[in-house]
Amino acid sequence: MTGFEFVRSFLCVSIIDSTEKTTVQVFPPEYMGVVAKPPPPYIPADISVIGFLQRVIIVFDQNIQPPKMEFPMSNPVIERIHQHGSVRHYKPDPVSTDLIKTIVAAGQCASTSSNLQMYSVVVTTQEAQRFQLMGLCGDQAHIGQAPVFLTWCADLSRLERVCEMQGYIAESGYTENLLLAAVDVSLVMQNATLAAESLGLGICCIGGIRNQSQAVIDLLGLPRLVFPMCGMTLGWPERAPRIRPRLPLEAVLHWEQYQPDDRPQLLAYDQAMLETGIYSGRQVSDGEQKFSQAYGWLEHSSRRVSKAYRTELRQRLMDAGFEMK
Ligand SMILES: Cc1cc2nc3c(=O)[nH]c(=O)nc-3n(C[C@H](O)[C@H](O)[C@H](O)COP(=O)(O)O)c2cc1C
Repeated sequence: MTGFEFVRSFLCVSIIDSTEKTTVQVFPPEYMGVVAKPPPPYIPADISVIGFLQRVIIVFDQNIQPPKMEFPMSNPVIERIHQHGSVRHYKPDPVSTDLIKTIVAAGQCASTSSNLQMYSVVVTTQEAQRFQLMGLCGDQAHIGQAPVFLTWCADLSRLERVCEMQGYIAESGYTENLLLAAVDVSLVMQNATLAAESLGLGICCIGGIRNQSQAVIDLLGLPRLVFPMCGMTLGWPERAPRIRPRLPLEAVLHWEQYQPDDRPQLLAYDQAMLETGIYSGRQVSDGEQKFSQAYGWLEHSSRRVSKAYRTELRQRLMDAGFEMK
C-alpha cells in the first residue's frame, strides 16, 4: 500500500500544485477521484494537517524505489550525481559560514562565458528575511525551514563598473547578454549543488523567486542589471530525498541528427513515473482543478506548460536594465 492509498483510506487529499505553490484540500473519501473541488463542507487543511499527511505519505512511500538509471561507467562523483533529489524537509541545524563559502567557491569553478562570471549570489540566513523571501516565493514551507536561502542573480552590473574603470561603455542591453548570464548562473548553481550534496547537505532550487521579482530586488537591495534568476534552499536534510527518475537516455541523447520520434520513450517514462507514486495527491491544476486518475509525467508536464506563468517577467527584466534588444 502506498502512503497515498493509506491516507486515501480515511481521507481524500488533493494537493494541487500551481505555479510551484502547493495548496491542499482535505475532504471526505466519497469525493475521491471525482473532482478536486467537492461541495462543502470540506476542511481547508492548515499547515499542521498538511505536514502530518505528508509525513504519513512519506513513511509509507519509502518502500517505493524508482527504477535504477543505467549508466555504463561509474565513479564516486557519478554515483553522487545519480543520488540527487531536491530536499524539501530540513533539520533546524545551522550551516556554518565556512560551509557556505566552500559551496559558493566550488560553484565559481564552473565554466563561464569568456571568464566574464556574470553572476552574484545573495545569502540569507536571518530568519526574518528568510520568512519574507518565503512569502515572496509562494509561501513554500521548506523555504522557511531551511537555515540558508541563496538568491542566484544574473549580474551585468559588475562588468559595467569594469568598463567604467577602463574607460569603455558596456553594451549590456542585448538578448545575448541575458543568455550569457543565465547560462553562467545555471552552471555556478549546479556546481554549488554538487559541492553541497557531496558534503551531506541538501538543496532545492526555487523558481518561485521570480514570482514577485521587483519585491525581491527591493528586499535584497539589488542594483540595476542584477536580476534574481533562481533561489535555492540549503540545509541539512531531515531524511534522504526521493529520487525522481529521468527520461530514458535515448529521449535526450541524439547521435549526429536530432530524432523527434520519441513517443515510445515518453510512454515508457510516463509509466515509470506513475509507478513511483510521485504524483499521488499532487496534481497541477488544469484550470478547472480536475483530478485525473491516470496522472503521470505526460499529463503533469502538459498541464504545466499549457499555461503561461510569470507573464510580467519581460517587463521586470527590462526595468532592471536587461533590454533584450
Ligand atoms: C529552475 C528551477 C526552479 C525550481 N523551482 C522550484 C520551486 O520553486 N519549488 C520547489 O519545490 N522545487 C523547485 N524546483 C525543483 C524541481 O521541481 C525539481 O528539480 C524537479 O522536480 C526534479 O526533481 P529532483 O530535483 O528531486 O530530481 C526547481 C528546479 C529548478 C531547476
